[in-house]
Amino acid sequence: MSTADSTAQTGSLVIAVDGTSGSGKSSTSRGVADRLGLRYLDTGAMFRAMTWWLLREGIDVGDTAAVAAAAGRPVIESGTDPLAPTITVDGIDVSVEIRGDDVNAAVSPVSAVPEVRARLLDLQREAIGSGGIVVEGRDIGSVVWPQAEVKVYLSADPDARAQRRTAEQGGTDVASTQQSLLERDRIDSGRATAPLTMAEGAVHVDSTHLSLAEVIDRIVELAQERRA
Ligand code: DC
Repeated sequence: MSTADSTAQTGSLVIAVDGTSGSGKSSTSRGVADRLGLRYLDTGAMFRAMTWWLLREGIDVGDTAAVAAAAGRPVIESGTDPLAPTITVDGIDVSVEIRGDDVNAAVSPVSAVPEVRARLLDLQREAIGSGGIVVEGRDIGSVVWPQAEVKVYLSADPDARAQRRTAEQGGTDVASTQQSLLERDRIDSGRATAPLTMAEGAVHVDSTHLSLAEVIDRIVELAQERRA
């Protein structure tokens, strides 16, 4: 890790960053972790890894009972260096594959299956351990780690999110990217178990008109205020 501002004061800190798809959670969380000398956990990557594995095994991701029965099988491991996060399934590096269209289309329904959430919840809590970490997802401040010292709910207008996500992926079809983001938001917010929601005590940061550096600064300030 390069530029730790205040590692001594941030040792056991947990920063929860929740929000909609494409709101900038990953770049923001990695930047905050790097600035504060913290680890970084991308819980979305864990749901994506589970989905990739189910698809590879030929399991029908629309069959809730089949998904539930298989959820305990893959070994999913997350590397928590914010400058080089990794994700493996049964020892295979899947960091590129989990961003594909097939996973994008299936990950929200898979994430709604309670047995999938229970399995990954255990792994997430184990990775958080004694803290010193920025964790991004949908239910971190509400379910995974409600005791987090800093909780952020990050949002941005759908137009801005679709533009950013399309540019990141080197694509041009902003309209279809936006449709896919909004469909995932709809399922993630509407599911019965641990839906996307603004957790109690969370600070809402709307990144529509902010640069990445400004969003990172805002969260670093919040962390420093909580530790003061
Ligand atoms: O953050 P992301 O787009 O990589 O997340 C992919 C999907 O994973 C998202 O559509 C919903 C699910 N997810 C979740 O249900 N809970 C989390 N804590 C993180 C992600």
